[in-house]
Amino acid sequence: MIRLAIEEEEARQVKAFCRELADRYGSAENPEFLADAQLAAHELPRRLRRCLNDFRLNEPASAMCVISGLPLDDAAIGATPSHWKFQEMRRSVCAEEMGLVLLSSLLGECIGWATQQDGHIVHDILPIKGMEHEQLGSGSEELLWWHIEDAFHECRGDYLGLMCLRNPDQVPTTFISIAEIPLSPWVVEKLFEPHYTIRPDESHLKKNKPDPAQIVGDLETSYDRIEQMNTRPDKIPVLFGDPRAPYIRIDPYFMDTVDDPAAQEALSTLIRAVDERIRDVPMDAGEICFIDNFQGVHGRKPFKARYDGRDRWLKRVNIARDLRRSRALRETAVDPVIH
Ligand SMILES: [Fe+2]
Repeated sequence: MIRLAIEEEEARQVKAFCRELADRYGSAENPEFLADAQLAAHELPRRLRRCLNDFRLNEPASAMCVISGLPLDDAAIGATPSHWKFQEMRRSVCAEEMGLVLLSSLLGECIGWATQQDGHIVHDILPIKGMEHEQLGSGSEELLWWHIEDAFHECRGDYLGLMCLRNPDQVPTTFISIAEIPLSPWVVEKLFEPHYTIRPDESHLKKNKPDPAQIVGDLETSYDRIEQMNTRPDKIPVLFGDPRAPYIRIDPYFMDTVDDPAAQEALSTLIRAVDERIRDVPMDAGEICFIDNFQGVHGRKPFKARYDGRDRWLKRVNIARDLRRSRALRETAVDPVIH
């Protein structure tokens, strides 16, 4: 894993810059801020830019880059909200969200989904009462099965950015890179064939929209598209790219049994191998973790939520290297939300 510890002077610069941007734009969801983010990222300290540029360009097999040392004032960010829908809670973390978007912009463009967290670009990962047993970022008491983020979708992000605002119980994120999984040639060969289906994960389903009455017009079409992927998913390969250093697309919890017995055996072999080796990566407050979503799978261990304003709280962004890949599903060239 690549690790970069931000030095004091760099931290001071980043903090001052993000404060200035927060005053100027008001919200990380402001389209003007998002349109300016790549340009603004040029003003980040050179060592940070160098680190993420190398991560993007070299595609290291470790598939993870952790940046630590960002200043975070626990009292100033306020209590962990009880639901991501309470958007007024975001004001206290506006500068932090902007820092996450700026760093992410060094890897590509931040994208959102019309069908997930109301189309926001920066998501909240926090436990929600009543969702303890869901396969969601807002679940808690069940193991969140390891997966590629938005694996069901052709236009999924190339990277996933997670910023830890609070994690007092050291709830572990789980992670492993495909490069660490030994696979025999016949398994690789089978997994390169399009035998497999991945249905949308629950975060995109209608039932997880807080206000279903808001599903009208274009959004209705977006949900219809998700429904189609749920009932008639395309057959896809699990591995792709270079067979010597393959990319991976997998979400075992949302995959059905495969008709071809050898293809099913190859998938089961891969799942077992990941299960045996996947490891805990606990995140500390102030850390930002970028995961290469074409190489590394991630999940979360079960935990008991507190619901006292001190729960684990992460911010998440999805990052696309090539925004054009999703152009047909976005309103305009500059609109980052995939419908
Ligand atoms: Fe995830």
